[in-house]
Amino acid sequence: MARIDTFLNGKFLPVHEANVNIEDRGILFGDGVYEVIQVYHGRLFQANEHLNRLWRSAAEIELPLPYDRGEMLQLMVELVRVSNVYDGGLYLEITRGVAVRVHQFPENCKPTFFMIARDAKPLEDSVYTQGVQVTLLPDERWKRCDIKTLNLLPNVLAKEKAVRLGFFDAFFFSERGITEATSSSVLVVFNGELVTAPQGYWILPGITRDTVIDLARQLNIPVRRDFISKDEIFKATEVMLTNTRVNIVPVVSIDGVTINNGQPGEIYKQLAHAFKALLEAT
Ligand code: PDD
Repeated sequence: MARIDTFLNGKFLPVHEANVNIEDRGILFGDGVYEVIQVYHGRLFQANEHLNRLWRSAAEIELPLPYDRGEMLQLMVELVRVSNVYDGGLYLEITRGVAVRVHQFPENCKPTFFMIARDAKPLEDSVYTQGVQVTLLPDERWKRCDIKTLNLLPNVLAKEKAVRLGFFDAFFFSERGITEATSSSVLVVFNGELVTAPQGYWILPGITRDTVIDLARQLNIPVRRDFISKDEIFKATEVMLTNTRVNIVPVVSIDGVTINNGQPGEIYKQLAHAFKALLEAT
């Protein structure tokens, strides 16, 4: 029997049986929001923080949610249980629903809600022990990157370009400085201080980044929220990126310029160690 790994509009079912209407506004306009939540050893990691962000994203685009928080959490836990996913992720998406294509919100449109639970192989150990190389690319996204919407084309194109050039990822820069990476937050160390972009419309409020900031404070590592310019970042002693899928990854080279002699730094190691302990304790 096919594995039940999907929930769509009220039903648990195998992914190949989960079909959406081609007039869904998620497909037509990218009119929806999403979340990615890590499943670690069969448990959802920081589900409440993801739900907080989902609620905020939905409110920002005036999207009514089909469930209350308690119900949503219960469905998420149930999907992880029935799918048997042990280490991987839960992808969750809500769109404005199905309607004949008009730009303004249609009347009486019922949101489409689905989730997919998937096993995911962890990245190669070398990513964490040796670090990765990134490139800098212009941030060509819209002006509300704080909302986790389905509109990811600039992120997709930048990641594709970076990967084709042999990089792990791209960091976006705007006139303000480095904003974030194509699907992760960026944190940098200067003189023992952890620096990361201020929260605002130009970046997603990364949940992993918030956790890393909390851990840094517990470890007495000073934290500053400030933009780092595209030139300054080359002078950093350490650079790292964070997201729900990869946790913390050390960056050892930017556009071919070596950071920290090409080695993951001490602050990265402390934070990664503390992060692992938190994952295990959850
Ligand atoms: N992306 N910035 C962007 C643009 C992102 O897309 C993400 C997450 C993050 C990090 O957020 P968090 O720590 O809450 O995962 C920052 C997910 C993983 C994705 O799109 O697949």
